[in-house]
Amino acid sequence: MARLAVNVDHVATVRQARGGSEPDPVLAAGLAELAGADGIICHLREDRRHINERDLRLLRQTVKTRLNMEMAAVDEIVGIALEVKPDIVTLVPEKREELTTEGGLDVKAQPYHYREATERLKGARIQVSFFVDPDPGQIEAARQCGADIVEIHTGHYSDARSELEAAEEFGRIVKAVESAAKLDLKVSAGHGLNYVNVKRFRDLHKIEEYSIGHSIVAMAVLVGFEAAVRKMIDLVRHF
Ligand code: PXP
Repeated sequence: MARLAVNVDHVATVRQARGGSEPDPVLAAGLAELAGADGIICHLREDRRHINERDLRLLRQTVKTRLNMEMAAVDEIVGIALEVKPDIVTLVPEKREELTTEGGLDVKAQPYHYREATERLKGARIQVSFFVDPDPGQIEAARQCGADIVEIHTGHYSDARSELEAAEEFGRIVKAVESAAKLDLKVSAGHGLNYVNVKRFRDLHKIEEYSIGHSIVAMAVLVGFEAAVRKMIDLVRHF
C-alpha cells in the first residue's frame, strides 16, 4: 500500500490570484489530513509566488502527519528550513521563468553543492529527498550526496503525447525505481500525476509515496462547485 502526500501549493496559487487570504493552504492541509492523506507538501519558492513563510510556519505547527518542504538548495531557503524543521526536505531545481518544476536536479553537475546542503539539513535531523529524472546516473549521484529518498520525476510520463511515448517513459521510471531500490534509497514519485495516469503505477510496489497536487486541486474545484453555488443561492434567495 503506497502513501499519498498532498501538495497544497495550488491552493495558495488561487489565493495569490487576488492577493487576499482565501483559500488558505493551511486549512486545505487540515482537510487533506482529515481525508486520510499521509503527508503535506509545500514548495517555498525563492520568489514566494504561492506558498509564503507564514504558510510554512503554520503548516509546521498544524500538520500532524509529515511535512515535506520542497525547495531549491540555496542558502536563504536552507536557513529557513533549518529553523522551521520540516520532517522532510525535497530538493528541487528552481527557475524563475518556469510555470512549475520542469525537470529533475542535475546532481551530477553539482555534487559538492548538493552534498553540502544535504549535510546541513541532515544535521538538523531533517530527512532529505532529491527530485530527479528517472536516470540511474542521477540516482547514484543523489545516493553519493547522502540522499535518504529519491523522488522520481514523473512529468515526462504525464506529458506523453501518445500511448507509445507513455509506455517508454513509464519503462524509464520502472528501471529508475529498481536502481534506487538497489541502492537502498526510499522511493517516491510525482509531478503531473492525475486520476487517470496514476493507475499505471498500481504494480510498482517499490514506490512508497506519491506526491500529488495540481490534479487534486483541479478535482476539488469541480466536485465542490455545485455545493458552493448552492450555498450562495441560499444566501441571495433569502434577501
Ligand atoms: N513533486 C515535485 C518535486 C513538485 O515540484 C511538484 C509540483 O510542485 C509535485 C511533485 C506535484 O506535482 P503536481 O502538482 O503536478 O501534482
